[in-house]
Order: sequence, then structure tokens, then C-alpha cells
Amino acid sequence: MNRRDFLIQSLMAGISTVALHNLPMQAQPAYKVYNSAKTWKSDNSFLKGLNAPVFEEIDISKLKVSGTIPPELEGMYVRNGPNPMFKPKTYNYPIEGDGMLHGIYFNKGKVSYKNRWIQTRGLAYEIFSGQELPELKFKNYANTNIIAHAGKLLALYEIGLPYQITEDLETLGEWNFNGQIEQSMTAHPKLDNATGELHFYRYSFFNAPYLHYYVADANGKIIRESPIEIPRPTMFHDMAITNNYAIFFDCPFVFNLSNAKNNKAPFDWKPEQGTTIILVDRHNADRKPIYLKTDAFWTWHFMNAFEQDKNLIVDFIPYENIDIGSNWESVLSNSSTFKRLTIDLETQEISYETLDDRYVEFPIINQRYLGQAYQFGYTSYYDTQLASRKKVPNLLPSIIQYDVVNKTNKVHQFKPGCYGGEVAFIPHPNKKSELDGYVVTFVYDENKNTSDVLIIDPANFEAEPLATIHLPVRVPSGFHGNWISTTQG
Ligand SMILES: [Fe+2]
Repeated sequence: MNRRDFLIQSLMAGISTVALHNLPMQAQPAYKVYNSAKTWKSDNSFLKGLNAPVFEEIDISKLKVSGTIPPELEGMYVRNGPNPMFKPKTYNYPIEGDGMLHGIYFNKGKVSYKNRWIQTRGLAYEIFSGQELPELKFKNYANTNIIAHAGKLLALYEIGLPYQITEDLETLGEWNFNGQIEQSMTAHPKLDNATGELHFYRYSFFNAPYLHYYVADANGKIIRESPIEIPRPTMFHDMAITNNYAIFFDCPFVFNLSNAKNNKAPFDWKPEQGTTIILVDRHNADRKPIYLKTDAFWTWHFMNAFEQDKNLIVDFIPYENIDIGSNWESVLSNSSTFKRLTIDLETQEISYETLDDRYVEFPIINQRYLGQAYQFGYTSYYDTQLASRKKVPNLLPSIIQYDVVNKTNKVHQFKPGCYGGEVAFIPHPNKKSELDGYVVTFVYDENKNTSDVLIIDPANFEAEPLATIHLPVRVPSGFHGNWISTTQG
């Protein structure tokens, strides 16, 4: 194996072979530009327009607000996404790009903003080289999500270890749960509200068993590691939990090392292999998982799952086909729907119901209802016709609120030329109903080339936002974020 192949294989296995360097940091000015990188432009659709990276790390202490910020909001809304520092020679969306965090802080009625790159080992190495290094193409970008658990903020990428981040969005370094996990963890762990447990997994490309399920207790101690047999290495982007099961969908998106060596997205779609639903007993590690075969689909994200009578119900966003890479026309062909999958736990029969046939993504709920029967969920609508016309991907002009009990939905349409991404649900600290809280999201306004943060009342979803926070800068389209409260656990 030559050096380049070794580096690719090592990085994809989550074993970093580069040294951690301390980056040269400037003293932080009181306001505005904290640090900046050399600017560049690209013709790649995922690196221009609202998808183009920003090159400055800034702090803005006072933001203009229209409407009224709910006074009980104390904490931060922080969102992760790809923001390559150096111009890449090739770019596979959505798996590449150095992670950048964008944080909106709510403190006694004042609102401030800051953004920071996540200073991963790979990025540090490239900073010292002053360029993108092709052999680090499959480095841990830490660009997918950010969560809080056991007193730590963790920026996540599914084929690398978490990076621990401070509340000021500075990078502390990799976190391996005190040496209890190796290699990697998913970017979509699930927090059990009743126990404080974090349920997650890692997948491996090279060593069977290719899937491992973990549980960390409320203090971050790993209390379970269960290998799960699957026949070949595949990509798993999300999981779900219910009271009794951890749920994995083994979709036939199969690892291909030669693609990786040729700088292509390292997966092949093999629909003839079908999808296998894997139900793992949460409470009995000795019990063998249940494997249920079904037609092929791919999924990035689950909305929620729960048990009801003898049924296990999974609401998720399936795709009939999946293609990732730099060609966004082919990416757009991956049209999704919003579906409910019901498994009869006695007969193991599987049935499907379409909840929405629009192309939607980024399913979110009030996280207090995770794993439980719920009524309301949220997605972002992907306008593929508009994207085709404008030749810009990631145009999400509205968000949808579903009532999955009454099978109705409401649309919150952004103003013309405004595009959102994933929303976060901020539960009200004192109230109990499912709609008590706020929906918050970044929205890019192409008329001004800046971004806003909208705070929307879930109980009055179609109405004007309760508050719009105006940023003087653009926040590029991104992936996942969360509300980190400073008034509750
Ligand atoms: Fe995701």
C-alpha cells in the first residue's frame, strides 16, 4: 500500500496519522473580525451563492432585531456546516468541507453572534501547509452536527471522533469518552430524555463487524457496546430509538475503496441488495437483533420512532435512489418523501404510508418527545424546480409543520428570495405541551446577501415570525444545529 492509499484508509478508519499542532491565534478584538482566511471562488454549485464558504471568523455583540425576542430564551442556537477553508480541487457534497459553527447567543434580552471554524487535526495540518492536501480528503471534517451531552459540547462527523467545543465555539480537541470509544461516532446520536443516556453507533469500512451500537450514561460513561453483524460495510447516517429498541436501517449504500482513491464519494448504490431494518433490544444486550428485509431505500434522517400497542412506528425521509458527489443535477434527482413505516412486532409485517410526497429534508421534533408518541414534526421543503431554474442547490423556501396524528400540515413560507435550512425546536423551559416553545432557523436573504435568524411560534406557524434577528453577514447553507439552554439541562 502506498503512502497516499495508507493515509486515505487511515483517515477513513478514523485513525489520524497527522500530528496535532497548536494554531497561531490572534488576540481577540472586542468586535468584528477575529480571524480570516484567504478568499477564493469556485464554479462548483455547492461552493457558490448561498453555499459559498465565508472566510472571516467574527463576533458581533449587538444585533438588530425586528419583533420581540421571547424573554425566557437564555442560551445559544448553534449550527454546523461545511465551509472549506482552502479551495478544494474536487468536492463531494454533502460529506466534505471543514466544519464551521454559527452561534446565536441569547442573554438577558441581548442577542449576539459568532462563527468559528472547527480546528480539526486535518485542518491544522492544511493551515500549516497553506493549501488543501489531497491525501486528507477523507479527514474528520467535524462538519455535521453539534450536541450537548454530559456537560460537553461536541461537534460531530460520522467517520471521526467528536471534537469538544467551548461555549465560545473554540475547539478543545478530540473527545473519545475517556478512551472508551475509538475511531468514530455518528453525527446523529439520540438522547433519551428519561435517563440522560446518549445512544449512538459507529460504522467501519474495513473491519467486521461493521456496525457497533453504544450507550453512554448521563455522565458520559460508556455503559454498552454491542457489535451488530451486517454483511458488508455500508453508510449509516442516522438511527432512532423507542422505549425498547434501537433502530438501524442497513441501506445498500455500499463502501467502495476504489472510488475513494479516485477522489469520488466512496459509496455505490446497490438497490438489488434491498434494505434491512435492524431492531436492537435496548435493555438486553444478549438478545440477538431482529433483521427485517424490505425493498431498497436510502435515508439520511429519521423524524421520530415510537411503540404503540403491538406496533413499532418509524417516521422518516426515504429516497428511492441515492447519489452523492459534486454533480448537483444528479443530487437533485434523489427526490425524497416523508413516510411512516409500521412494523407489526408480532407478525413482523412491514407497511408504509406516505405522509408527504413533497421533497423535504431535515426532519425535527420537539426533542422532549424523542422515542415517544408525538403529534408535531417539522421539515424543510426543497424546491427542486427553483433550484434547477436558478442552477443553485439547497434552495429551501419554506418549512412545514406536520400534525402526524390528524395528517394535516401547515407551511411557513419565507419572504421571496429567502431560503432556510434545518430548524431547531426550543422547548419552553416551564411549559409542557408539545407546541410550547419556538422554532428557530437561519434564513439567507439573496436580496441583501445577508442572513437572518427567525423565531417562529409553533402554535401560530403560518404567521409572521415573532422575531427576526438581522445579521450583517451571510451564513452559508449548512447541516444540523441545536438549542443549548443555559437555564435547563
Ligand atoms: Fe444529517
